[in-house]
Amino acid sequence: MGPWPLDPRGPEAEQIVTLYWLMFACAMVVLAIVAGAIIYSGIKFRDRPGHSARQFHSHNMLELTWTVIPTLMVISFTVLSWNKLNFINDVDSNVAMTVKVEGRQWSWAFTYPDQQLFKLQDGSTLQSGQQLDIPIGQKIKLELTSKDVIHSFWIPNLGGKKDAVPGHTTSLWIQADQPGTFKGQCYEYCGDGHADMLLTVVAHSASDYTAWAADAVKQANLLNDPRTKVGRDTFLAAPCVGCHTVQGTTAAGKVGPDLTHIASKQNIAGVLSPVNQENLTKWVSDAPSIKPGVVMPKFKGTLSDQQISDIVQWLLTLK
Ligand code: CUA
Repeated sequence: MGPWPLDPRGPEAEQIVTLYWLMFACAMVVLAIVAGAIIYSGIKFRDRPGHSARQFHSHNMLELTWTVIPTLMVISFTVLSWNKLNFINDVDSNVAMTVKVEGRQWSWAFTYPDQQLFKLQDGSTLQSGQQLDIPIGQKIKLELTSKDVIHSFWIPNLGGKKDAVPGHTTSLWIQADQPGTFKGQCYEYCGDGHADMLLTVVAHSASDYTAWAADAVKQANLLNDPRTKVGRDTFLAAPCVGCHTVQGTTAAGKVGPDLTHIASKQNIAGVLSPVNQENLTKWVSDAPSIKPGVVMPKFKGTLSDQQISDIVQWLLTLK
């Protein structure tokens, strides 16, 4: 499903859309009355032979009407907005799970809560990039921050938007009523890669969610598999680690996206799809020629073709 704010799939988005339609309907009624009165008067009182305009200087009833009605409407909208904002801004009551979100030029990183469900062998907590998996019917609190510049987190079908500001923590909550995949987009211009700063929220039923988490943890732990040693060692010795994190390894760079589940992603950096050997090789070899302005440099020349191939093979095991 595309990101679409008028198709609410959770309580927060529903509240926003209800208010939107109410205001839109009132605006349309006002438009019809005002435009109707203008058109009617234009025809009825148009200049024609034998008619002269009636002269008068004030009409108390009319002036009262067009002052009182708009005032009442604005007050009603204020009260209603206030009421909805209280609901939307209530990020702390009945929270089922808190996820840390970090915006980076130009990707999103999610850290799941410190719970047994997300615990890795090495004692750390599951992380993901670009995609956040949540259980349905539960209020998920998001604690947002940014690595570099101001970004804005927005999943239109699930809720309102909130800025991710460097050096601060802001919070937001989302909730999905039914399973589904919901797309979002960074909503604050943050540099060359802004338009590619997409994100996805996948909502699972409760039982699917437990299974998903178990699998994600298993995959993260699998990184210690000796069969993928050559590629892993090459990656860990290469400049890649200065920028990228792969959970369960020493790669803990924070400049680039988290690659822990790169092979399960739908695209590479939002621009190459699918994630396969050919596209990954292209990307690692010369990312700037594919996504102008990207921080990742060209590695063809710095790394040998064999090294790139080993790294790509290993990245493809990171499901
Ligand atoms: Cu991040 Cu726009």
